[in-house]
Amino acid sequence: MVHLASVPGPDTRQLAERPKKVQLQLSNDEDDFTTSVYGSRYAAQDLPRHEMPEREMPKEVAYRMIKDELSLDGNPMLNLASFVTTYMEEEAEKLMTEAFPKNFIDYEEYPQSAEIQNRCVSMIARLFHAPEGNSEHAGAIGTSCVGSSEAIMLAVLAMKKRWKNRRLAEGKPCDRPNLVMSSAVQVCWEKACRYFEIEEKLVYCTPERYVIDPEETVKLVDENTIGICCILGTTYTGEYEDVKGVNDLLMKKGLNVPIHVDAASGGFVAPFVVPDLEWDFRLEHVVSINVSGHKYGLVYPGIGWVVWRSAEYLPQELVFNINYLGADQASFTLNFSKGASQVIGQYYQFIRLGKHGYRAIMSNLTRIADYLSDSLEALGFIIMSKKSGEGLPLVAFRLPPKEDRHYDEFSLAHQLRVRGWVVPAYTMAPHTGNMKMLRVVVREDFTKNRCDNLINDIRSSQALLEQMDRESIKRQEEFIHKHHTASGKATHNHPKFRGYRERNTRSKARQARLTLSAKTAAHHERSFSIEQKRDIKTGQVVSSKTTAVQTANVGQQATLSLELPGGRQLMTFRISCPM
Ligand SMILES: Cc1ncc(COP(=O)(O)O)c(C=O)c1O
Repeated sequence: MVHLASVPGPDTRQLAERPKKVQLQLSNDEDDFTTSVYGSRYAAQDLPRHEMPEREMPKEVAYRMIKDELSLDGNPMLNLASFVTTYMEEEAEKLMTEAFPKNFIDYEEYPQSAEIQNRCVSMIARLFHAPEGNSEHAGAIGTSCVGSSEAIMLAVLAMKKRWKNRRLAEGKPCDRPNLVMSSAVQVCWEKACRYFEIEEKLVYCTPERYVIDPEETVKLVDENTIGICCILGTTYTGEYEDVKGVNDLLMKKGLNVPIHVDAASGGFVAPFVVPDLEWDFRLEHVVSINVSGHKYGLVYPGIGWVVWRSAEYLPQELVFNINYLGADQASFTLNFSKGASQVIGQYYQFIRLGKHGYRAIMSNLTRIADYLSDSLEALGFIIMSKKSGEGLPLVAFRLPPKEDRHYDEFSLAHQLRVRGWVVPAYTMAPHTGNMKMLRVVVREDFTKNRCDNLINDIRSSQALLEQMDRESIKRQEEFIHKHHTASGKATHNHPKFRGYRERNTRSKARQARLTLSAKTAAHHERSFSIEQKRDIKTGQVVSSKTTAVQTANVGQQATLSLELPGGRQLMTFRISCPM
């Protein structure tokens, strides 16, 4: 008979009685990595973190150590939070790599790179129906930038300067410029206003409307308005704002106010998917447009564009005519040096794909976004984004209202993170009743197959959350936040700027920071909800009120979970004075 024999474990009693026979003999070959990088002493040491090391290390080791460290980053393909390009063809990559040593600003040394930029500006301006012409005042003008943020800074500076020059010529004060824009603007608009001392006049979204209302927008215009921003594809829901509506109202009322279109994402989508939509230079009041080459322009991060209807809208004082390395150059940028690779990558995409290629890609993205939208609707989600090309190819969605559900959009986002997906959860723009939402950006490499994988993972994540109790969900969320996200792990922020992100996510977020740092007036405290106060050592919930902390002991540590527009934030702080 054959016995199924079990393998016995070691007899620990016997082992303990035996004399130790093994002698530890570790290699001590200095600097030797001929066996492999992992056989070298570097593999058993810490990587230098704070101080530049005294000695060199072999290039193979440096490469492998950094590559290994970076493998803990997320997978860009699964990052559905970002609009930024994660796929380019090898030929494009090769061209871009070959251009690494070129400083784009050295026009004299690299005239072809400069020429290629000009070709791109020309193609983009024509795509946006800019008036053509070669005289001093006719014909569009534009430049490449690092991204839409720089492009917007330049456009805002131009609008401000033009307004100021006009006011000075009229003998009127020019110390209180303002910009009219949606409360759903990307943070770079807030940055531009703060850096250039311009008042933000916000047209608030509502729980039913996630874009500007043209009537309200035009009503906010006054003599100090330097311009109006309209967004072609808001960051929150991707919906296109009604640029034509604003333009026509300005015309009707005879108001001489310029419009800048923030077409960061939509600028390379709408012209191909909805070519009849009038949002660009076809509209008389549109004086400048920005677009990100690194979003639907299909280039790796580091490129944006800004185009003005004509040189008339770009005051001469802002343009620097510099003599650099023997050549006279006109330049309007915030930075001086930058790489030429991205400009070259953009030109590659333009000539490689042509209008037909861009249309084919954008059409597929629109189809996949519609498919995802329908599938999520079938799973019971409420869809907040537009379909069929009425907005960007993205899907913004939220859970249907249900009182006894013990998880929310943030819990679902955290759960998906475990599978590698980055699907951000947000709170909608101010004045929308703290509406929570999730958003999936459909990019070139998000195929139908990948979309199906995501839908399956959303379904199974929801099923898992349904089975979990409230406390376990919270504990798991905190763990994932702390160990899987950069904000949770961040330890390097200077104490003075801790909470920087919160302050820069507008309105409630800014106030939240004020409360925590200054512990000031009650109206700040009321403006954000504290979900939980936990003792950081025991992990026990001290309080789970949704109002601000009322009493706490000096020296006590607490963790607060704050609902902020940029996502849920966990903050740990020590009470340093009675609140
Ligand atoms: C509408 C809008 N404007 C501006 C920006 C900033 O663009 P960039 O990242 O190219 O600086 C973004 C980025 O997502 C955006 O969505």
